[in-house]
Amino acid sequence: MGSPRFSDFVSIRDFSKQEISFVLKKAKQMVPFASGEEKSNALEGKILGTLFYEPSTRTRLSFESAMLRLGGAVMGFSSPMGTSIEKGENLSDTIRVTETYADILVIRHPLEGAARLAADLSTKPVVNAGDGAGQHPTQTILDLFTMLESKEKLEGLNVVILGDLKFGRTVHSLSEALALFGANLTFVAPPSLELPKEVIAEIESKGCRPRYATALEDAVKDADVLYVTRIQKERFADATEYAKVAGSYRIDSKLLSKGKSTLSVMHPLPRISEIAPEVDSTSHSLYFKQAAYGIPVRMAILSMLLGVEF
Ligand code: CP
Repeated sequence: MGSPRFSDFVSIRDFSKQEISFVLKKAKQMVPFASGEEKSNALEGKILGTLFYEPSTRTRLSFESAMLRLGGAVMGFSSPMGTSIEKGENLSDTIRVTETYADILVIRHPLEGAARLAADLSTKPVVNAGDGAGQHPTQTILDLFTMLESKEKLEGLNVVILGDLKFGRTVHSLSEALALFGANLTFVAPPSLELPKEVIAEIESKGCRPRYATALEDAVKDADVLYVTRIQKERFADATEYAKVAGSYRIDSKLLSKGKSTLSVMHPLPRISEIAPEVDSTSHSLYFKQAAYGIPVRMAILSMLLGVEF
């Protein structure tokens, strides 16, 4: 298969299994460049514009690191504060202007569909770095990459996905991609935070028959990966609704002792209290390695969107 051409990176639904596999293969090639072991100026002269309407540590900084390590430059904002968005500028105008300043735009926005709108408006490639409770497709690629590096397969992998499945954009794009690759999915969510019907329909359309569990102890027994997510306080309109579910699960060594010795715990991070710090130093912990893989994965995505061959 030749190099697929991508114009934007907005939703995992836009890509076939072959295209995702190609990005994963490219990401593997990027590992020595991500660590700085090998040098490249492949993106010299290119400018990345980062438009972050919501907070971020990993996504924004790993995109920046990926661009800088490949010789490119970065400009942008990490919050609407201090930009003309505070004066009331709308998203369309911000995109129309910033696309003339950069060669590629990465956008995070609280509204679902904002990245698609930006991609439709922009003549430059647009990457969705998270749109409200919608999707987070570059996180999904790094999650798949982490699983492949650790478990050497996706097909038949037993993955338990825990937490805020309703608002969790990482969960939405990841579960759809895992279904595409033939993983076995089990979902565990506090009441009121179950997976949306349209995501279930998308997963089932790919031939996946997910399990829904209430007892985490049972769910982890045959799991290869436990993918934990944070309950996102910022997505609740009502603080009392958040209070009902806050702190309703916590992964600790006792829980992990019910699973396989090879069980890996992943988390897109940030975590609050859902994984006990004692897990960090165990062989189960994969979440910091997962975060580090954001750089090779985003190097691959940036270079592909910018049409730069390695
Ligand atoms: N995983 C993730 O999206 O982290 P940030 O919110 O820190 O970017």
